[in-house]
Amino acid sequence: MTEIKKPGTNAEKAVENALRIARSEERPVRILFVCLGNICRSPAAEGMMQHICGDMSPAQRPELDSAGFYGGHAGELPDRRMRMVASRRGLVLTHRSRKIHESDFDYFDLLLGMDDSNISDLHDLAPTPEAECKIARMSDFAVNYQYADCVPDPYYDGLDGFENVLNLLEDATTTLRKLIIRE
Ligand code: 4NP
Repeated sequence: MTEIKKPGTNAEKAVENALRIARSEERPVRILFVCLGNICRSPAAEGMMQHICGDMSPAQRPELDSAGFYGGHAGELPDRRMRMVASRRGLVLTHRSRKIHESDFDYFDLLLGMDDSNISDLHDLAPTPEAECKIARMSDFAVNYQYADCVPDPYYDGLDGFENVLNLLEDATTTLRKLIIRE
């Protein structure tokens, strides 16, 4: 059974909570990846998770989406640099940026923020204490990058920053997949 080794995080509890909600409604779990612009980190997380869950049965395969707090890039494809580094790993990112909305807490079972600011904004947006239980930090699932405490914003970095994001996301989505299929 996969275990997240980072002490004191609520990541595993949030996944258990999400799976319980999904099971009670007899449907696959719904996950929303969240960052600021929804053009770099969260659409990459969505694309990578989609990719690694591609072999799961439709009944088990999670329903995925991503969104951001800024909203200024609404309707845009992911950043050209992110699409380029992702394509080298076989990922085609087609998500169109959108702003997160309070109602996302009704629809999704698990909302995964990339950094402190996303996590804090998610807690501010959550309408109820139950909604707050759906929030977790993406980097808490990164077991190989154990000391990473966020997926850092690469927007003002070079391509290295984008590669670093993908490395962290590969690690974190692998753990998430294991938790969902209870390996
Ligand atoms: P993301 O990166 O949050 O990973 O999508 C950013 C993209 C755009 C901006 C900030 C962060 N921006 O301020 O436009």
